Amino acid sequence: MREQRFLRACRGEPVDTTPIWIMRQAGRYLSQYMEIRRQTTFLELCKTPELAARVTVQPVDYLGVDAAILFSDILIPVEAMGMKLEFGVGDGPSFPEPIRSARDVERLAPFDPTERTPFTLEAIRQTVRALDGKVPLIGFAGAPFTLAAYMVEGKGSKSWMQIKRLMAQERGLAHALFEKLADTISDYLVAQIEAGCRAVQIFDSWGGELDADGFRQWSLPYVSRIVSEVKSKHPQVPVIYFGTSMSTLLDLMPETGADVIGLDWRIDLGEARDRLGPEVAVQGNLDPAALFLPKEEITARVRTILERNAGRPGHVFNLGHGIFPLTDPENARHLVEEVHRLGARG
Ligand code: CP3
Repeated sequence: MREQRFLRACRGEPVDTTPIWIMRQAGRYLSQYMEIRRQTTFLELCKTPELAARVTVQPVDYLGVDAAILFSDILIPVEAMGMKLEFGVGDGPSFPEPIRSARDVERLAPFDPTERTPFTLEAIRQTVRALDGKVPLIGFAGAPFTLAAYMVEGKGSKSWMQIKRLMAQERGLAHALFEKLADTISDYLVAQIEAGCRAVQIFDSWGGELDADGFRQWSLPYVSRIVSEVKSKHPQVPVIYFGTSMSTLLDLMPETGADVIGLDWRIDLGEARDRLGPEVAVQGNLDPAALFLPKEEITARVRTILERNAGRPGHVFNLGHGIFPLTDPENARHLVEEVHRLGARG
Protein backbone atom coordinates (compact mmCIF):
# COMPACT_ATOMS: atom_id res chain seq x y z
CA MET A 1 0.00 0.00 0.00
CA ARG A 2 2.94 2.35 0.66
CA GLU A 3 3.64 2.43 -3.06
CA GLN A 4 0.13 3.71 -3.89
CA ARG A 5 -0.68 5.96 -0.92
CA PHE A 6 0.70 9.22 -2.25
CA LEU A 7 -0.71 8.93 -5.79
CA ARG A 8 -4.10 7.82 -4.50
CA ALA A 9 -4.31 10.78 -2.13
CA CYS A 10 -3.36 13.14 -4.99
CA ARG A 11 -6.35 11.77 -6.91
CA GLY A 12 -8.68 12.06 -3.92
CA GLU A 13 -9.02 8.27 -3.63
CA PRO A 14 -9.27 6.33 -0.32
CA VAL A 15 -5.98 5.43 1.41
CA ASP A 16 -4.99 3.18 4.33
CA THR A 17 -3.28 6.11 6.06
CA THR A 18 -2.30 9.68 5.29
CA PRO A 19 0.74 9.76 3.00
CA ILE A 20 3.62 12.10 3.78
CA TRP A 21 6.76 13.40 2.11
CA ILE A 22 8.84 16.41 3.14
CA MET A 23 9.98 19.29 0.97
CA ARG A 24 13.82 19.32 0.86
CA GLN A 25 13.79 15.87 2.42
CA ALA A 26 17.13 15.16 0.75
CA GLY A 27 19.28 17.83 2.32
CA ARG A 28 21.66 19.27 4.82
CA TYR A 29 19.87 18.09 8.01
CA LEU A 30 20.86 14.52 7.06
CA SER A 31 24.43 13.44 7.86
CA GLN A 32 24.24 10.91 5.00
CA TYR A 33 23.60 13.83 2.63
CA MET A 34 26.42 15.93 4.10
CA GLU A 35 28.84 13.07 3.66
CA ILE A 36 28.22 13.04 -0.10
CA ARG A 37 27.83 16.80 -0.31
CA ARG A 38 31.31 17.40 1.18
CA GLN A 39 32.87 15.59 -1.77
CA THR A 40 31.35 17.85 -4.42
CA THR A 41 29.52 21.11 -5.11
CA PHE A 42 25.74 21.34 -5.04
CA LEU A 43 25.52 21.83 -8.82
CA GLU A 44 27.85 18.90 -9.51
CA LEU A 45 25.71 16.78 -7.22
CA CYS A 46 22.63 17.73 -9.25
CA LYS A 47 24.46 16.82 -12.46
CA THR A 48 25.91 13.48 -11.35
CA PRO A 49 23.06 10.98 -11.79
CA GLU A 50 24.55 8.28 -9.60
CA LEU A 51 25.01 10.67 -6.64
CA ALA A 52 21.69 12.46 -7.22
CA ALA A 53 19.92 9.10 -7.17
CA ARG A 54 21.72 8.13 -3.96
CA VAL A 55 20.73 11.26 -2.03
CA THR A 56 17.15 11.04 -3.36
CA VAL A 57 16.72 7.57 -1.91
CA GLN A 58 18.33 8.30 1.50
CA PRO A 59 15.26 9.88 3.15
CA VAL A 60 12.93 7.27 1.66
CA ASP A 61 14.77 4.60 3.59
CA TYR A 62 15.60 6.63 6.69
CA LEU A 63 12.33 8.54 7.19
CA GLY A 64 9.87 6.10 5.67
CA VAL A 65 8.17 8.76 3.53
CA ASP A 66 5.67 7.79 0.84
CA ALA A 67 7.29 9.58 -2.10
CA ALA A 68 10.75 10.55 -3.30
CA ILE A 69 11.51 13.88 -4.97
CA LEU A 70 14.10 14.23 -7.69
CA PHE A 71 17.32 15.79 -6.43
CA SER A 72 17.86 18.86 -8.55
CA ASP A 73 17.03 22.57 -8.43
CA ILE A 74 14.43 24.80 -10.04
CA LEU A 75 17.24 26.88 -11.57
CA ILE A 76 18.87 24.01 -13.51
CA PRO A 77 16.65 24.51 -16.61
CA VAL A 78 17.39 28.24 -16.49
CA GLU A 79 21.09 27.46 -16.73
CA ALA A 80 20.24 25.13 -19.62
CA MET A 81 18.58 28.12 -21.38
CA GLY A 82 21.98 29.79 -21.40
CA MET A 83 22.26 31.79 -18.15
CA LYS A 84 25.37 31.48 -16.02
CA LEU A 85 24.31 30.05 -12.63
CA GLU A 86 26.34 30.02 -9.41
CA PHE A 87 25.79 28.61 -5.96
CA GLY A 88 28.22 30.34 -3.60
CA VAL A 89 29.48 28.69 -0.46
CA GLY A 90 26.85 28.97 2.25
CA ASP A 91 24.48 31.23 0.38
CA GLY A 92 21.76 30.93 -2.20
CA PRO A 93 21.86 30.85 -5.99
CA SER A 94 22.92 33.76 -8.15
CA PHE A 95 22.92 34.74 -11.80
CA PRO A 96 25.92 37.08 -12.22
CA GLU A 97 24.48 38.35 -15.52
CA PRO A 98 20.79 38.95 -14.78
CA ILE A 99 18.13 39.66 -17.42
CA ARG A 100 17.79 43.37 -18.02
CA SER A 101 17.02 43.90 -21.72
CA ALA A 102 15.11 42.55 -24.69
CA ARG A 103 18.36 41.14 -26.03
CA ASP A 104 18.83 39.16 -22.80
CA VAL A 105 15.40 37.60 -23.24
CA GLU A 106 15.96 36.88 -26.94
CA ARG A 107 19.21 35.13 -26.10
CA LEU A 108 17.45 32.63 -23.81
CA ALA A 109 17.22 29.42 -25.77
CA PRO A 110 14.38 26.95 -25.31
CA PHE A 111 16.06 23.56 -25.20
CA ASP A 112 15.54 19.88 -25.76
CA PRO A 113 15.87 18.26 -22.29
CA THR A 114 17.46 15.14 -23.78
CA GLU A 115 20.27 17.34 -25.14
CA ARG A 116 20.79 20.03 -22.50
CA THR A 117 19.77 18.24 -19.28
CA PRO A 118 20.48 14.57 -19.97
CA PHE A 119 21.84 14.28 -16.39
CA THR A 120 18.37 15.08 -14.98
CA LEU A 121 16.69 12.40 -17.07
CA GLU A 122 19.41 9.90 -16.24
CA ALA A 123 19.12 10.76 -12.51
CA ILE A 124 15.39 10.02 -12.78
CA ARG A 125 15.99 6.66 -14.47
CA GLN A 126 18.61 5.65 -11.91
CA THR A 127 16.45 6.82 -9.00
CA VAL A 128 13.43 4.88 -10.25
CA ARG A 129 15.62 1.80 -10.51
CA ALA A 130 17.01 2.31 -6.99
CA LEU A 131 13.53 2.89 -5.55
CA ASP A 132 12.56 -0.49 -6.95
CA GLY A 133 8.81 0.25 -6.81
CA LYS A 134 8.83 1.16 -3.09
CA VAL A 135 7.46 4.67 -3.62
CA PRO A 136 6.82 6.92 -6.63
CA LEU A 137 9.25 9.65 -7.72
CA ILE A 138 8.05 13.26 -7.95
CA GLY A 139 9.52 15.52 -10.63
CA PHE A 140 9.42 19.32 -10.35
CA ALA A 141 10.03 22.70 -11.88
CA GLY A 142 9.69 26.35 -10.88
CA ALA A 143 6.70 28.44 -11.97
CA PRO A 144 7.52 31.17 -14.51
CA PHE A 145 7.06 34.05 -12.04
CA THR A 146 9.34 32.50 -9.44
CA LEU A 147 12.01 31.63 -12.03
CA ALA A 148 11.79 35.06 -13.67
CA ALA A 149 12.15 36.68 -10.25
CA TYR A 150 15.57 35.04 -9.81
CA MET A 151 16.59 35.64 -13.43
CA VAL A 152 15.82 39.35 -13.33
CA GLU A 153 17.00 40.09 -9.78
CA GLY A 154 20.09 37.92 -10.24
CA LYS A 155 19.54 36.46 -6.75
CA GLY A 156 17.04 36.10 -3.94
CA SER A 157 15.47 39.37 -2.77
CA LYS A 158 13.22 40.75 -0.05
CA SER A 159 11.46 43.28 -2.26
CA TRP A 160 11.79 41.69 -5.75
CA MET A 161 12.01 45.26 -7.01
CA GLN A 162 13.68 44.51 -10.37
CA ILE A 163 11.14 41.93 -11.56
CA LYS A 164 8.25 44.09 -10.34
CA ARG A 165 9.64 47.10 -12.20
CA LEU A 166 9.99 45.04 -15.34
CA MET A 167 6.41 43.75 -15.07
CA ALA A 168 5.11 47.29 -14.57
CA GLN A 169 7.20 49.21 -17.12
CA GLU A 170 8.16 46.67 -19.75
CA ARG A 171 5.15 44.47 -19.99
CA GLY A 172 5.78 43.15 -23.46
CA LEU A 173 9.26 42.10 -22.50
CA ALA A 174 8.09 40.51 -19.25
CA HIS A 175 5.37 38.56 -21.06
CA ALA A 176 7.89 37.39 -23.67
CA LEU A 177 10.11 36.11 -20.86
CA PHE A 178 7.23 34.37 -19.06
CA GLU A 179 6.04 32.78 -22.30
CA LYS A 180 9.45 31.38 -23.06
CA LEU A 181 9.67 29.99 -19.54
CA ALA A 182 6.20 28.41 -19.71
CA ASP A 183 7.05 26.57 -22.93
CA THR A 184 10.44 25.44 -21.68
CA ILE A 185 9.10 24.26 -18.33
CA SER A 186 6.25 22.35 -20.00
CA ASP A 187 8.74 20.39 -22.14
CA TYR A 188 10.99 19.87 -19.15
CA LEU A 189 8.21 18.41 -16.99
CA VAL A 190 6.96 16.18 -19.81
CA ALA A 191 10.51 14.84 -20.25
CA GLN A 192 10.73 14.14 -16.50
CA ILE A 193 7.48 12.16 -16.65
CA GLU A 194 8.67 10.24 -19.69
CA ALA A 195 11.88 9.35 -17.82
CA GLY A 196 9.86 7.90 -14.92
CA CYS A 197 8.37 10.58 -12.62
CA ARG A 198 4.84 9.67 -11.50
CA ALA A 199 3.77 13.14 -10.29
CA VAL A 200 5.13 16.66 -10.72
CA GLN A 201 5.22 19.71 -8.47
CA ILE A 202 5.34 23.29 -9.70
CA PHE A 203 7.06 25.56 -7.16
CA ASP A 204 5.77 29.13 -7.14
CA SER A 205 7.74 29.95 -4.02
CA TRP A 206 7.42 33.72 -4.42
CA GLY A 207 3.93 33.77 -5.98
CA GLY A 208 2.62 35.25 -2.73
CA GLU A 209 4.45 38.46 -3.67
CA LEU A 210 1.66 39.17 -6.16
CA ASP A 211 -1.76 40.64 -5.45
CA ALA A 212 -4.83 39.04 -7.01
CA ASP A 213 -4.67 41.14 -10.20
CA GLY A 214 -0.96 40.52 -10.55
CA PHE A 215 -1.45 36.84 -9.99
CA ARG A 216 -4.18 36.74 -12.65
CA GLN A 217 -1.92 38.50 -15.08
CA TRP A 218 1.51 37.07 -14.32
CA SER A 219 1.19 33.67 -12.77
CA LEU A 220 -2.16 32.05 -13.48
CA PRO A 221 -2.01 32.07 -17.31
CA TYR A 222 1.51 30.64 -17.42
CA VAL A 223 1.05 28.01 -14.74
CA SER A 224 -2.26 27.03 -16.39
CA ARG A 225 -0.48 26.66 -19.71
CA ILE A 226 2.10 24.35 -18.14
CA VAL A 227 -0.55 22.25 -16.39
CA SER A 228 -2.61 21.85 -19.55
CA GLU A 229 0.46 20.94 -21.64
CA VAL A 230 1.45 18.28 -19.11
CA LYS A 231 -2.13 17.02 -18.80
CA SER A 232 -2.60 16.82 -22.57
CA LYS A 233 0.30 14.40 -22.79
CA HIS A 234 -0.01 12.60 -19.44
CA PRO A 235 -3.55 13.01 -18.08
CA GLN A 236 -3.02 10.43 -15.32
CA VAL A 237 -0.03 12.21 -13.73
CA PRO A 238 -1.00 14.39 -10.72
CA VAL A 239 0.20 17.99 -10.80
CA ILE A 240 0.85 19.75 -7.48
CA TYR A 241 0.92 23.56 -7.41
CA PHE A 242 2.77 24.96 -4.40
CA GLY A 243 3.30 28.50 -3.23
CA THR A 244 3.97 30.37 0.01
CA SER A 245 2.11 33.32 1.51
CA MET A 246 -0.68 32.66 -0.95
CA SER A 247 -3.68 32.60 1.40
CA THR A 248 -5.15 35.64 -0.32
CA LEU A 249 -4.74 33.94 -3.71
CA LEU A 250 -6.00 30.54 -2.60
CA ASP A 251 -9.34 30.77 -4.37
CA LEU A 252 -7.55 31.40 -7.68
CA MET A 253 -5.05 28.55 -7.36
CA PRO A 254 -7.39 25.75 -8.60
CA GLU A 255 -7.88 27.74 -11.81
CA THR A 256 -4.42 26.51 -12.80
CA GLY A 257 -5.95 23.05 -13.29
CA ALA A 258 -3.60 21.47 -10.74
CA ASP A 259 -4.86 18.37 -8.94
CA VAL A 260 -3.24 19.24 -5.62
CA ILE A 261 -2.71 22.64 -3.98
CA GLY A 262 0.38 22.88 -1.78
CA LEU A 263 -0.24 25.03 1.32
CA ASP A 264 2.33 26.78 3.49
CA TRP A 265 1.86 26.84 7.30
CA ARG A 266 0.29 30.28 7.56
CA ILE A 267 -3.23 29.07 6.75
CA ASP A 268 -5.55 26.71 8.64
CA LEU A 269 -5.74 23.57 6.49
CA GLY A 270 -9.44 23.05 7.32
CA GLU A 271 -10.31 26.58 6.26
CA ALA A 272 -8.26 26.15 3.07
CA ARG A 273 -10.14 22.95 2.23
CA ASP A 274 -13.51 24.64 2.88
CA ARG A 275 -12.55 27.39 0.46
CA LEU A 276 -11.09 25.09 -2.19
CA GLY A 277 -13.96 22.59 -2.19
CA PRO A 278 -13.89 18.80 -2.53
CA GLU A 279 -12.63 18.66 -6.13
CA VAL A 280 -9.06 19.52 -5.34
CA ALA A 281 -6.63 17.73 -3.02
CA VAL A 282 -4.28 19.58 -0.66
CA GLN A 283 -0.72 19.09 0.52
CA GLY A 284 0.72 20.40 3.76
CA ASN A 285 0.96 22.15 6.07
CA LEU A 286 3.07 21.79 9.22
CA ASP A 287 5.30 24.75 10.08
CA PRO A 288 8.90 23.58 9.43
CA ALA A 289 9.81 25.18 12.77
CA ALA A 290 7.49 22.68 14.54
CA LEU A 291 10.25 20.11 14.06
CA PHE A 292 12.31 22.03 16.64
CA LEU A 293 9.71 21.15 19.30
CA PRO A 294 9.86 18.15 21.67
CA LYS A 295 8.40 14.97 20.18
CA GLU A 296 5.08 15.11 22.12
CA GLU A 297 4.43 18.59 20.79
CA ILE A 298 5.17 17.47 17.23
CA THR A 299 2.58 14.74 17.73
CA ALA A 300 0.07 17.32 18.96
CA ARG A 301 0.70 19.46 15.86
CA VAL A 302 0.15 16.46 13.62
CA ARG A 303 -3.11 15.70 15.41
CA THR A 304 -4.32 19.28 14.91
CA ILE A 305 -3.67 19.20 11.17
CA LEU A 306 -5.34 15.81 10.76
CA GLU A 307 -8.33 17.07 12.76
CA ARG A 308 -8.59 20.10 10.53
CA ASN A 309 -8.63 17.80 7.52
CA ALA A 310 -11.42 15.87 9.25
CA GLY A 311 -11.04 12.66 7.29
CA ARG A 312 -11.57 14.29 3.92
CA PRO A 313 -9.94 12.31 1.09
CA GLY A 314 -7.19 14.03 -0.87
CA HIS A 315 -4.69 15.06 1.81
CA VAL A 316 -0.95 14.60 1.41
CA PHE A 317 0.90 15.55 4.60
CA ASN A 318 3.98 17.76 4.19
CA LEU A 319 5.70 20.72 5.78
CA GLY A 320 4.52 24.16 4.70
CA HIS A 321 7.99 24.83 3.18
CA GLY A 322 11.37 23.12 3.07
CA ILE A 323 12.78 21.40 6.15
CA PHE A 324 15.35 23.53 8.03
CA PRO A 325 18.99 22.37 7.89
CA LEU A 326 19.12 22.55 11.73
CA THR A 327 16.35 19.96 12.13
CA ASP A 328 17.13 16.85 14.17
CA PRO A 329 16.55 13.99 11.69
CA GLU A 330 15.05 11.94 14.55
CA ASN A 331 12.24 14.50 14.79
CA ALA A 332 11.56 14.23 11.06
CA ARG A 333 11.37 10.48 11.47
CA HIS A 334 9.01 10.89 14.42
CA LEU A 335 6.80 13.14 12.27
CA VAL A 336 6.48 10.50 9.55
CA GLU A 337 5.67 7.76 12.06
CA GLU A 338 3.04 9.88 13.78
CA VAL A 339 1.34 10.91 10.53
CA HIS A 340 1.08 7.24 9.58
CA ARG A 341 -0.13 6.21 13.04
CA LEU A 342 -2.68 9.01 13.60
CA GLY A 343 -3.76 9.14 9.96
CA ALA A 344 -4.62 5.44 9.78
CA ARG A 345 -8.19 4.75 8.67
CA GLY A 346 -9.86 2.35 11.11
O1 CP3 B 1 12.95 18.84 -2.01
C1 CP3 B 1 13.93 18.15 -2.32
O2 CP3 B 1 14.50 17.38 -1.50
C2 CP3 B 1 14.36 18.13 -3.76
C3 CP3 B 1 15.42 19.02 -4.15
C4 CP3 B 1 15.17 20.50 -4.26
C5 CP3 B 1 16.21 21.43 -4.03
N1 CP3 B 1 15.76 22.67 -4.39
C6 CP3 B 1 17.54 21.08 -3.53
C7 CP3 B 1 18.37 22.12 -2.91
C8 CP3 B 1 14.05 21.22 -4.68
C9 CP3 B 1 12.65 20.74 -5.00
C10 CP3 B 1 14.44 22.60 -4.76
C11 CP3 B 1 13.55 23.67 -5.23
C12 CP3 B 1 13.99 25.06 -5.12
N2 CP3 B 1 15.22 25.59 -5.33
C13 CP3 B 1 13.12 26.15 -4.84
C14 CP3 B 1 11.64 26.04 -4.61
C15 CP3 B 1 11.34 25.53 -3.25
C16 CP3 B 1 11.53 26.51 -2.15
O3 CP3 B 1 12.38 26.22 -1.29
O4 CP3 B 1 10.87 27.53 -2.14
C17 CP3 B 1 13.88 27.32 -4.83
C18 CP3 B 1 13.37 28.72 -4.55
C19 CP3 B 1 15.21 26.95 -5.16
C20 CP3 B 1 16.40 27.82 -5.32
C21 CP3 B 1 17.39 27.54 -4.26
N3 CP3 B 1 18.19 26.43 -4.22
C22 CP3 B 1 17.68 28.33 -3.15
C23 CP3 B 1 17.02 29.66 -2.81
C24 CP3 B 1 18.71 27.68 -2.44
C25 CP3 B 1 19.45 28.20 -1.25
C26 CP3 B 1 18.66 28.12 -0.03
C27 CP3 B 1 19.09 26.92 0.74
O5 CP3 B 1 18.21 26.19 1.22
O6 CP3 B 1 20.32 26.74 0.86
C28 CP3 B 1 18.98 26.46 -3.09
C29 CP3 B 1 19.95 25.44 -2.66
C30 CP3 B 1 19.47 24.03 -2.52
N4 CP3 B 1 18.53 23.42 -3.30
C31 CP3 B 1 19.95 23.07 -1.57
C32 CP3 B 1 19.27 21.88 -1.83
C33 CP3 B 1 19.46 20.56 -1.14
C34 CP3 B 1 21.06 23.31 -0.56
C35 CP3 B 1 22.34 23.25 -1.30
C36 CP3 B 1 23.49 22.63 -0.54
O7 CP3 B 1 23.52 21.40 -0.32
O8 CP3 B 1 24.43 23.39 -0.25
